[in-house]
Amino acid sequence: MKSIISSVLLAFGVLLANAPATTAGALRPTDLRCEYRQDPQGLDIKEPRLSWLPVSDRRGERQTAWQLLVASSQKRLRANDGDLWDSGKVTSNQSAQIAYAGQSLASRQQCYWKVRVWNQDGRASAWSEPALWTMGLLNPEDWQARWIGSEEGAFSGDAAANLKAPLPTPRYLRKGFHLDQPIRRATVHVTALGLYELRINGQRVSDHLLAPEWTRYTHRVQVDSIEVTDLLRKGDNAIGAIVGNGWYCGSFICWPQRPRIFGDRPWLLAQLEVETTDGQRHVFATDDTWRVSTKGPLRQSGIYEGESYDARMEMQGWDRAGFNDSTWQTAALGANLKVGKLVWQRSEPIRVTHKFKPVALTEPKPGVYVFDLGQNIAGWCRLAAQAPAGAAVTLRHAEVLNPDGTVYTKNLRGALAEEHYIFKGGGKTEVFEPHFTYHGFRYVEVTGLPSRPSTNAILGRMFHTSFRDTGSFECSNPLLTKLAANIQWSQRANYMGVPTDCPNRDERTGCTGDHQFFLPTALYNMDVAAFFNKWLVDLCDDSQSARGVFADIAPYYGMFPGQSDGWGDAGIICPYEIYRAYGDTRAVSEHFEAMRRHHAFLTQTATNQIRHLEGPGDWLNLGGSAKNEVIATAYYAYLTGLMAEMAQAIGRTDDATHYRDLADQIKAAFTRAFLRPDGSIEGSSQTGYALAFTMGLVPPELKDKMSAAYAREIARFDWHPATGFIGAARLLPGLHNAGLDTDACRLVFQESYPSWLFMVKQGATTVWERWDSYTPEKGFQDPGMNSFNHIVWGTMGEYLFGMLGGIQAETPGYKDIRIQPIIADQLQWARTSYRSISGEIQTSWKKESNRLTLDVTVPANTTATVFVPTVDPSTVLESGRPATQSPDVKFLRSEKGVAVYRIESGRYSFSSKRQ
Ligand code: BGC
Repeated sequence: MKSIISSVLLAFGVLLANAPATTAGALRPTDLRCEYRQDPQGLDIKEPRLSWLPVSDRRGERQTAWQLLVASSQKRLRANDGDLWDSGKVTSNQSAQIAYAGQSLASRQQCYWKVRVWNQDGRASAWSEPALWTMGLLNPEDWQARWIGSEEGAFSGDAAANLKAPLPTPRYLRKGFHLDQPIRRATVHVTALGLYELRINGQRVSDHLLAPEWTRYTHRVQVDSIEVTDLLRKGDNAIGAIVGNGWYCGSFICWPQRPRIFGDRPWLLAQLEVETTDGQRHVFATDDTWRVSTKGPLRQSGIYEGESYDARMEMQGWDRAGFNDSTWQTAALGANLKVGKLVWQRSEPIRVTHKFKPVALTEPKPGVYVFDLGQNIAGWCRLAAQAPAGAAVTLRHAEVLNPDGTVYTKNLRGALAEEHYIFKGGGKTEVFEPHFTYHGFRYVEVTGLPSRPSTNAILGRMFHTSFRDTGSFECSNPLLTKLAANIQWSQRANYMGVPTDCPNRDERTGCTGDHQFFLPTALYNMDVAAFFNKWLVDLCDDSQSARGVFADIAPYYGMFPGQSDGWGDAGIICPYEIYRAYGDTRAVSEHFEAMRRHHAFLTQTATNQIRHLEGPGDWLNLGGSAKNEVIATAYYAYLTGLMAEMAQAIGRTDDATHYRDLADQIKAAFTRAFLRPDGSIEGSSQTGYALAFTMGLVPPELKDKMSAAYAREIARFDWHPATGFIGAARLLPGLHNAGLDTDACRLVFQESYPSWLFMVKQGATTVWERWDSYTPEKGFQDPGMNSFNHIVWGTMGEYLFGMLGGIQAETPGYKDIRIQPIIADQLQWARTSYRSISGEIQTSWKKESNRLTLDVTVPANTTATVFVPTVDPSTVLESGRPATQSPDVKFLRSEKGVAVYRIESGRYSFSSKRQ
């Protein structure tokens, strides 16, 4: 749908493009973002943060000042009239995290904005392309809409019967209305308790799937604000919605499946606001003038179950004007619903991002067809087939196959993951796509078709939070390149509005531990800033218990209230990582009090600074773990250090001092309790050392001995990883910090079980939950706990980007960058890129006989320290001449095996003698 706004912006952009060109190569602002999103709608943040990317082809370009204009109309913005905010020229090199500081913003406000920047020579850029954000309904009084639904399926009051009651049938809701003037602009604000699909005059209003996304509904419910001007017309119109159960009242959550946790039936809330050309405002809001039916073709729907659809029950034109809804009921008004605050959809919506045509079709048993999408995904299938009326087809989804070629579904446990479709017949191809479910799968079994289907009867549609890809890693080892891609596929499949543990079995919850482990890798792979800004609210604001601890799972749904060391601690670690990657201090200050309470609980429950581990510990380890107190105390020390750093970053200096002192005390206690003079850590294998070396627990005088002890623990397992979740996340960075990259690389390139490349060699297209999810000798692991799409072993991605690629943030938000690649013996070359909040960073290294080339790109307005590996610093060339003679390269020092340089932005090509 092309809205009026976007076409006007487009025309406006053309005008700007025709404006006098800026000096070639000089700095110009691009990629304008508001709250990390492109042209977001319906905000409820009164001082949203703005960012842009200053770009240039020239070396050494820096931004020295900026000016922002925010206007209430395109016309004003075009005339450079920032009636909402004209910042004036601000001397600053900041290009992100700039809080709006203009007129206070009211509900429905449209904010058109642009920016210009000045470079180091004081030269101004042209104005950027225009961008937009809109405000949503900020006050409860703005809402005229009421929650509506159907009486059917209400809880009986008998708890035991409620548990067994069938899931509510999806509701169809509609209303016809008339507009007697042409439309100037229309916006719909919509949400559900459950999941909605909203339609106007027969068309979906957006491509947002599984909306509204999962929150703790008693605390917060997300609203979509969508511009729908193009869908309306002068004359008769209709608005209609299908509403399903989703997370709100589906059979969620596992062990045992607990139906209808948040409520008994789904509800819809929608408010369509239309401005006609005569200046009138019309509001069509959900109320008891709407009509409802539970007799539509969508018969059953559940996140785990899948869907049942009977095409014979389709109601032609139900979502268009003129439909006769006299057999429908009057919509019921929701009463006494426990609904939290209505908030905006903060992260990028869940959308289809990839489509998969089957790569193979087999028939392992007569009439049983198995389609292979070639990739393990999260999403669903589009079925396109022909059959007589009443023919029933079933789709079953699976990640892997049995040896006989049939689908293996045991590991889905209680998640049925089936679609049932009944044909209406009539000799035409019928196309079906589900609405309110999703599956984790690579294979689809189709039964019930009258004849063998063609491969294009099935199309895999992958969806997830639609963030941008930001990272890529490729190298001369195809298995490792494949592993990097597999990690990204697992990330996509598991970022479904909230970060989940898996997309397949009857679980799929916001597992806190898994996602703090994975975040350093996730940050390289994709732009997860908006996504985590949302989830941190689920975790820190909405999932903290009365004891002060963060739940083990967020959004919290009544089970696992915390504290499990390493899990709920995500509430401290994730804000810290978001701060480091994006320079986001607001994420820190908004959650600081909650973090303080969680940390206070850790202190209260420690004995002489030593903590005793609670929770799953080093989950799924293979004997390479550490004793409980080592893990819990290491975490406690680390978290305390993070609190100190974050307190400092937001100007809470007293808190910073307090946490710094405490961190020192905990470190001293750790040393006394667990470190032995020979450098070994009591009761510790790989995990203990990994934590010590990444959590600042290595006293300088013991470093060499501890490194040697660490190396012994790697050798003891014959250079295989043997940690669980806690250790895996830090195993390779730990080795790096210990100066043991040779050992780290032996682990990375290990191909025999257990190892990362072992999975890849078994044909994995995502990352498995267990080192031995499948082995040729033993087959599949215990189906009770065996997903093929878990992200935690994918934490090794940090080593690919940060160490083999050598891209690291020296300061928060990558304003200053460290480029320090590890040149692995096992590789000929590696190419790595990461689009940071400060711009695109690239490294590419290659061995060429006895020389090494290292190409580096550093974004405008940043600086970098580059560590060029060499046996002889005097041999280092940059763009063909001695690096010391390059005016843009400053030699800092030489260290063991490297020459260190300081560079400003731009592209550089180093070459050095390596042996
Ligand atoms: C999840 C894991 C999680 C673990 C620990 C499992 O059910 O799938 O990823 O970390 O529970 O509680």
